[in-house]
Amino acid sequence: MERFRVLVTRRIPEPGLEILRPEAELDIFEGEAPMPREDIASRVKGKGGLVCLLSDKIDSEIMEAGKDLRVISNYAVGYNNIDVDEATRRGILVTNTPGVLTDATADLTWALLMACARRIPESDRFMREGRFLGWGPTLMLGREVYGRTIGIVGLGDIGTAVARRARGFGMRVLYHNRRRNEEGEREEGAEYVSLDDLLRNSDFVSLHVPLTPATRHFIGRREIGLMKKTTILLNVARGEVVDEEALIEALKAKRIASAGLDVFENEPRLNPDFARLENVVLTPHTGSATYESRNRMAIMAAENMLSGLKGKRPPNLVNPDAWKG
Ligand code: GLV
Ligand code: GLV
Repeated sequence: MERFRVLVTRRIPEPGLEILRPEAELDIFEGEAPMPREDIASRVKGKGGLVCLLSDKIDSEIMEAGKDLRVISNYAVGYNNIDVDEATRRGILVTNTPGVLTDATADLTWALLMACARRIPESDRFMREGRFLGWGPTLMLGREVYGRTIGIVGLGDIGTAVARRARGFGMRVLYHNRRRNEEGEREEGAEYVSLDDLLRNSDFVSLHVPLTPATRHFIGRREIGLMKKTTILLNVARGEVVDEEALIEALKAKRIASAGLDVFENEPRLNPDFARLENVVLTPHTGSATYESRNRMAIMAAENMLSGLKGKRPPNLVNPDAWKG
Protein backbone atom coordinates (compact mmCIF):
# COMPACT_ATOMS: atom_id res chain seq x y z
CA MET A 1 0.00 0.00 0.00
CA GLU A 2 1.27 3.43 -0.86
CA ARG A 3 2.05 5.55 2.19
CA PHE A 4 0.61 8.99 2.69
CA ARG A 5 2.94 11.94 2.26
CA VAL A 6 2.73 14.73 4.83
CA LEU A 7 4.55 18.05 5.16
CA VAL A 8 5.05 19.19 8.77
CA THR A 9 6.07 22.86 8.84
CA ARG A 10 7.86 22.60 12.19
CA ARG A 11 8.88 19.70 14.41
CA ILE A 12 5.88 19.09 16.71
CA PRO A 13 6.22 17.01 19.91
CA GLU A 14 7.15 13.38 19.40
CA PRO A 15 3.83 11.77 20.50
CA GLY A 16 2.20 13.24 17.38
CA LEU A 17 4.99 12.17 15.04
CA GLU A 18 4.86 8.65 16.50
CA ILE A 19 1.24 8.37 15.40
CA LEU A 20 1.96 9.65 11.90
CA ARG A 21 5.19 7.77 11.16
CA PRO A 22 3.84 4.21 10.66
CA GLU A 23 1.34 5.45 8.08
CA ALA A 24 2.97 8.42 6.45
CA GLU A 25 6.21 9.56 4.99
CA LEU A 26 6.99 12.79 6.87
CA ASP A 27 8.78 15.79 5.47
CA ILE A 28 9.55 17.87 8.58
CA PHE A 29 10.98 21.38 8.47
CA GLU A 30 13.79 21.52 11.02
CA GLY A 31 14.10 25.26 11.66
CA GLU A 32 14.18 27.37 14.81
CA ALA A 33 11.76 29.85 13.24
CA PRO A 34 8.60 29.46 11.17
CA MET A 35 9.10 27.70 7.84
CA PRO A 36 9.74 30.23 5.06
CA ARG A 37 6.75 30.60 2.78
CA GLU A 38 8.70 29.72 -0.39
CA ASP A 39 9.78 26.48 1.26
CA ILE A 40 6.22 25.59 2.18
CA ALA A 41 5.13 26.31 -1.40
CA SER A 42 7.84 24.08 -2.86
CA ARG A 43 7.74 21.24 -0.34
CA VAL A 44 3.93 20.98 -0.23
CA LYS A 45 4.02 19.70 -3.81
CA GLY A 46 2.98 16.06 -3.97
CA LYS A 47 1.83 16.00 -0.32
CA GLY A 48 -1.63 14.79 0.65
CA GLY A 49 -1.38 16.31 4.12
CA LEU A 50 -0.08 19.51 5.66
CA VAL A 51 0.47 19.91 9.41
CA CYS A 52 0.94 23.64 9.97
CA LEU A 53 1.19 26.30 12.65
CA LEU A 54 -0.74 29.47 13.37
CA SER A 55 2.25 31.41 12.04
CA ASP A 56 1.93 29.80 8.58
CA LYS A 57 -0.34 31.69 6.21
CA ILE A 58 -2.08 28.97 4.22
CA ASP A 59 -3.84 30.70 1.33
CA SER A 60 -4.89 29.90 -2.23
CA GLU A 61 -1.30 30.22 -3.46
CA ILE A 62 -0.09 27.48 -1.10
CA MET A 63 -3.14 25.33 -1.91
CA GLU A 64 -2.49 25.82 -5.61
CA ALA A 65 1.10 24.64 -5.10
CA GLY A 66 -0.17 21.70 -3.06
CA LYS A 67 -2.51 20.30 -5.67
CA ASP A 68 -2.67 16.90 -3.96
CA LEU A 69 -3.62 18.31 -0.55
CA ARG A 70 -6.58 16.62 1.07
CA VAL A 71 -6.08 17.57 4.72
CA ILE A 72 -4.69 20.67 6.46
CA SER A 73 -4.23 19.98 10.15
CA ASN A 74 -3.56 23.18 12.09
CA TYR A 75 -1.50 22.71 15.23
CA ALA A 76 -3.60 25.33 17.08
CA VAL A 77 -7.16 25.96 18.09
CA GLY A 78 -7.37 29.25 16.16
CA TYR A 79 -7.32 28.88 12.37
CA ASN A 80 -7.46 32.45 11.10
CA ASN A 81 -4.11 31.71 9.39
CA ILE A 82 -5.91 29.44 6.91
CA ASP A 83 -8.19 30.56 4.09
CA VAL A 84 -10.88 28.08 5.08
CA ASP A 85 -13.33 29.13 2.36
CA GLU A 86 -10.70 28.48 -0.26
CA ALA A 87 -9.92 25.07 1.27
CA THR A 88 -13.64 24.22 1.25
CA ARG A 89 -13.94 25.20 -2.42
CA ARG A 90 -11.07 22.84 -3.16
CA GLY A 91 -12.52 20.05 -1.01
CA ILE A 92 -9.59 20.16 1.43
CA LEU A 93 -10.45 19.23 5.01
CA VAL A 94 -9.22 21.69 7.67
CA THR A 95 -8.85 20.65 11.32
CA ASN A 96 -7.76 22.30 14.59
CA THR A 97 -6.96 21.32 18.19
CA PRO A 98 -9.74 22.56 20.48
CA GLY A 99 -10.19 21.65 24.14
CA VAL A 100 -6.73 20.29 24.91
CA LEU A 101 -5.21 23.74 25.42
CA THR A 102 -8.14 25.37 27.21
CA ASP A 103 -6.80 25.12 30.76
CA ALA A 104 -3.23 26.00 29.80
CA THR A 105 -4.45 29.16 28.06
CA ALA A 106 -6.73 30.09 30.96
CA ASP A 107 -3.79 29.55 33.34
CA LEU A 108 -1.62 31.91 31.30
CA THR A 109 -4.42 34.47 31.30
CA TRP A 110 -4.40 34.24 35.06
CA ALA A 111 -0.62 34.52 35.21
CA LEU A 112 -0.78 37.75 33.17
CA LEU A 113 -3.63 39.04 35.30
CA MET A 114 -1.69 38.53 38.51
CA ALA A 115 1.55 39.78 36.97
CA CYS A 116 -0.13 43.02 35.91
CA ALA A 117 -2.13 43.50 39.10
CA ARG A 118 0.91 43.12 41.34
CA ARG A 119 3.52 44.42 38.87
CA ILE A 120 5.61 41.25 39.10
CA PRO A 121 7.87 41.68 36.02
CA GLU A 122 8.49 45.32 36.93
CA SER A 123 9.35 44.30 40.49
CA ASP A 124 11.67 41.62 39.20
CA ARG A 125 13.52 44.14 37.02
CA PHE A 126 13.69 46.51 39.99
CA MET A 127 15.31 43.85 42.18
CA ARG A 128 17.81 42.76 39.54
CA GLU A 129 18.82 46.36 38.97
CA GLY A 130 19.69 46.70 42.67
CA ARG A 131 17.14 49.46 43.24
CA PHE A 132 15.54 47.99 46.38
CA LEU A 133 16.48 50.30 49.29
CA GLY A 134 14.19 48.74 51.90
CA TRP A 135 10.50 48.22 52.62
CA GLY A 136 8.43 51.17 51.47
CA PRO A 137 4.84 52.18 52.30
CA THR A 138 4.12 53.09 48.69
CA LEU A 139 6.62 50.86 46.89
CA MET A 140 5.20 48.98 43.85
CA LEU A 141 1.56 49.42 44.73
CA GLY A 142 -0.75 47.40 42.55
CA ARG A 143 -4.38 46.38 42.40
CA GLU A 144 -6.35 43.82 44.37
CA VAL A 145 -7.70 40.85 42.50
CA TYR A 146 -9.86 39.14 45.11
CA GLY A 147 -13.47 40.26 44.99
CA ARG A 148 -13.06 42.53 41.97
CA THR A 149 -14.95 42.37 38.66
CA ILE A 150 -13.68 40.62 35.55
CA GLY A 151 -15.24 41.16 32.13
CA ILE A 152 -14.80 38.26 29.72
CA VAL A 153 -15.19 39.07 26.06
CA GLY A 154 -16.01 35.77 24.36
CA LEU A 155 -17.38 33.12 26.73
CA GLY A 156 -16.35 30.03 24.78
CA ASP A 157 -14.18 27.21 26.13
CA ILE A 158 -11.25 29.39 27.18
CA GLY A 159 -13.37 32.29 28.41
CA THR A 160 -15.37 29.85 30.53
CA ALA A 161 -12.18 28.36 32.00
CA VAL A 162 -11.09 31.89 32.94
CA ALA A 163 -14.49 32.51 34.57
CA ARG A 164 -14.05 29.31 36.59
CA ARG A 165 -10.72 30.57 37.93
CA ALA A 166 -12.27 33.96 38.73
CA ARG A 167 -14.84 32.30 40.97
CA GLY A 168 -12.02 31.06 43.21
CA PHE A 169 -10.99 34.68 43.61
CA GLY A 170 -14.48 35.71 44.68
CA MET A 171 -14.91 37.81 41.58
CA ARG A 172 -18.00 39.10 39.88
CA VAL A 173 -17.94 37.77 36.33
CA LEU A 174 -19.43 39.80 33.48
CA TYR A 175 -19.33 38.54 29.93
CA HIS A 176 -20.16 39.56 26.44
CA ASN A 177 -20.65 37.14 23.59
CA ARG A 178 -22.29 37.09 20.18
CA ARG A 179 -24.82 34.68 21.64
CA ARG A 180 -25.78 34.27 25.26
CA ASN A 181 -24.14 31.30 26.90
CA GLU A 182 -26.74 30.00 29.33
CA GLU A 183 -24.56 27.14 30.51
CA GLY A 184 -21.77 29.57 31.37
CA GLU A 185 -24.26 31.72 33.23
CA ARG A 186 -25.51 28.75 35.20
CA GLU A 187 -22.21 26.99 35.85
CA GLU A 188 -19.92 29.96 36.38
CA GLY A 189 -22.37 32.60 37.54
CA ALA A 190 -21.40 34.83 34.61
CA GLU A 191 -23.67 37.82 33.93
CA TYR A 192 -24.43 38.73 30.33
CA VAL A 193 -23.97 42.45 29.58
CA SER A 194 -23.47 44.64 26.52
CA LEU A 195 -19.87 45.20 25.47
CA ASP A 196 -20.04 48.83 26.58
CA ASP A 197 -21.35 47.92 30.04
CA LEU A 198 -18.66 45.29 30.38
CA LEU A 199 -15.95 47.81 29.49
CA ARG A 200 -17.33 50.45 31.86
CA ASN A 201 -17.68 48.15 34.85
CA SER A 202 -14.77 45.70 34.78
CA ASP A 203 -11.52 45.94 36.72
CA PHE A 204 -10.06 43.33 34.38
CA VAL A 205 -11.07 42.91 30.74
CA SER A 206 -10.00 39.61 29.21
CA LEU A 207 -10.31 38.83 25.50
CA HIS A 208 -11.21 35.32 24.29
CA VAL A 209 -12.80 35.78 20.87
CA PRO A 210 -11.49 34.17 17.68
CA LEU A 211 -10.08 36.51 15.04
CA THR A 212 -12.63 37.06 12.26
CA PRO A 213 -13.38 40.08 10.08
CA ALA A 214 -15.94 41.07 12.75
CA THR A 215 -13.47 40.95 15.66
CA ARG A 216 -10.54 42.72 13.99
CA HIS A 217 -9.83 45.83 16.10
CA PHE A 218 -12.83 44.92 18.24
CA ILE A 219 -11.10 46.82 21.03
CA GLY A 220 -10.14 50.22 19.64
CA ARG A 221 -9.91 53.81 20.83
CA ARG A 222 -13.62 54.10 21.61
CA GLU A 223 -13.71 50.86 23.60
CA ILE A 224 -10.55 51.65 25.57
CA GLY A 225 -12.06 55.07 26.27
CA LEU A 226 -14.95 53.38 28.10
CA MET A 227 -12.66 51.49 30.49
CA LYS A 228 -11.83 52.72 33.96
CA LYS A 229 -8.49 54.37 34.62
CA THR A 230 -7.65 51.41 36.87
CA THR A 231 -8.60 48.70 34.37
CA ILE A 232 -6.17 45.99 33.33
CA LEU A 233 -6.60 44.60 29.81
CA LEU A 234 -5.59 41.01 28.98
CA ASN A 235 -5.23 39.58 25.48
CA VAL A 236 -4.39 35.92 24.96
CA ALA A 237 -6.60 35.62 21.84
CA ARG A 238 -5.15 37.25 18.71
CA GLY A 239 -3.21 40.49 18.46
CA GLU A 240 -5.43 41.89 15.72
CA VAL A 241 -8.44 41.88 18.06
CA VAL A 242 -6.94 45.01 19.64
CA ASP A 243 -5.95 48.20 17.84
CA GLU A 244 -2.37 48.26 19.10
CA GLU A 245 -1.82 51.89 18.30
CA ALA A 246 -4.82 52.91 20.37
CA LEU A 247 -3.66 50.66 23.20
CA ILE A 248 -0.13 52.08 23.22
CA GLU A 249 -1.53 55.59 23.29
CA ALA A 250 -3.75 54.69 26.26
CA LEU A 251 -0.92 52.99 28.16
CA LYS A 252 1.41 55.94 27.60
CA ALA A 253 -1.23 58.38 28.83
CA LYS A 254 -2.17 56.00 31.69
CA ARG A 255 -5.76 56.05 30.43
CA ILE A 256 -5.90 52.45 31.71
CA ALA A 257 -3.65 50.88 34.35
CA SER A 258 -1.86 48.21 32.36
CA ALA A 259 -2.08 45.40 29.83
CA GLY A 260 -0.99 41.77 29.78
CA LEU A 261 -0.40 40.64 26.22
CA ASP A 262 0.42 37.21 24.84
CA VAL A 263 -0.41 38.07 21.23
CA PHE A 264 0.51 40.92 18.90
CA GLU A 265 -0.73 42.49 15.70
CA ASN A 266 2.33 41.76 13.58
CA GLU A 267 3.90 38.66 15.11
CA PRO A 268 6.72 38.03 15.53
CA ARG A 269 7.41 41.78 15.36
CA LEU A 270 6.92 43.60 18.65
CA ASN A 271 5.94 47.25 18.41
CA PRO A 272 9.02 48.85 20.06
CA ASP A 273 6.79 51.18 22.09
CA PHE A 274 5.64 48.19 24.15
CA ALA A 275 9.21 47.43 25.15
CA ARG A 276 9.60 50.98 26.50
CA LEU A 277 6.47 50.91 28.66
CA GLU A 278 6.55 49.71 32.28
CA ASN A 279 2.78 49.14 32.45
CA VAL A 280 2.64 46.22 30.06
CA VAL A 281 3.53 42.56 30.58
CA LEU A 282 4.55 40.65 27.45
CA THR A 283 4.74 36.93 26.68
CA PRO A 284 5.62 35.36 23.29
CA HIS A 285 2.29 33.75 22.31
CA THR A 286 2.68 30.97 24.86
CA GLY A 287 -0.94 30.43 25.92
CA SER A 288 -0.81 26.71 25.16
CA ALA A 289 2.89 26.29 25.97
CA THR A 290 2.87 23.55 28.57
CA TYR A 291 4.43 20.14 27.99
CA GLU A 292 1.04 18.54 28.61
CA SER A 293 -0.93 20.73 26.20
CA ARG A 294 1.58 20.69 23.40
CA ASN A 295 1.78 16.88 23.56
CA ARG A 296 -2.00 16.59 23.49
CA MET A 297 -2.18 19.04 20.59
CA ALA A 298 0.38 16.96 18.66
CA ILE A 299 -1.64 13.78 19.18
CA MET A 300 -4.84 15.52 18.16
CA ALA A 301 -3.28 17.09 15.06
CA ALA A 302 -1.90 13.68 14.04
CA GLU A 303 -5.21 11.89 14.60
CA ASN A 304 -7.08 14.54 12.64
CA MET A 305 -4.59 14.16 9.81
CA LEU A 306 -4.75 10.37 9.62
CA SER A 307 -8.54 10.24 9.80
CA GLY A 308 -8.80 12.66 6.91
CA LEU A 309 -6.20 10.90 4.78
CA LYS A 310 -7.93 7.56 5.36
CA GLY A 311 -11.27 8.99 4.23
CA LYS A 312 -12.78 9.14 7.70
CA ARG A 313 -14.33 12.30 9.05
CA PRO A 314 -11.70 13.96 11.28
CA PRO A 315 -12.85 14.53 14.87
CA ASN A 316 -12.04 18.25 14.76
CA LEU A 317 -13.15 19.26 11.30
CA VAL A 318 -13.67 23.02 11.00
CA ASN A 319 -15.13 23.04 7.48
CA PRO A 320 -17.85 20.35 7.41
CA ASP A 321 -18.92 21.68 3.99
CA ALA A 322 -15.75 20.16 2.54
CA TRP A 323 -16.79 16.74 3.83
CA LYS A 324 -18.45 14.60 1.24
CA GLY A 325 -18.71 11.48 3.40
C1 GLV B 1 10.53 11.49 10.49
O1 GLV B 1 9.74 10.61 10.64
C2 GLV B 1 11.14 12.24 11.59
O2 GLV B 1 10.71 12.10 12.72
O3 GLV B 1 12.07 12.99 11.33
C1 GLV C 1 -2.98 29.49 19.90
O1 GLV C 1 -2.99 30.71 19.79
C2 GLV C 1 -3.91 28.63 19.24
O2 GLV C 1 -4.77 29.12 18.50
O3 GLV C 1 -3.79 27.41 19.42
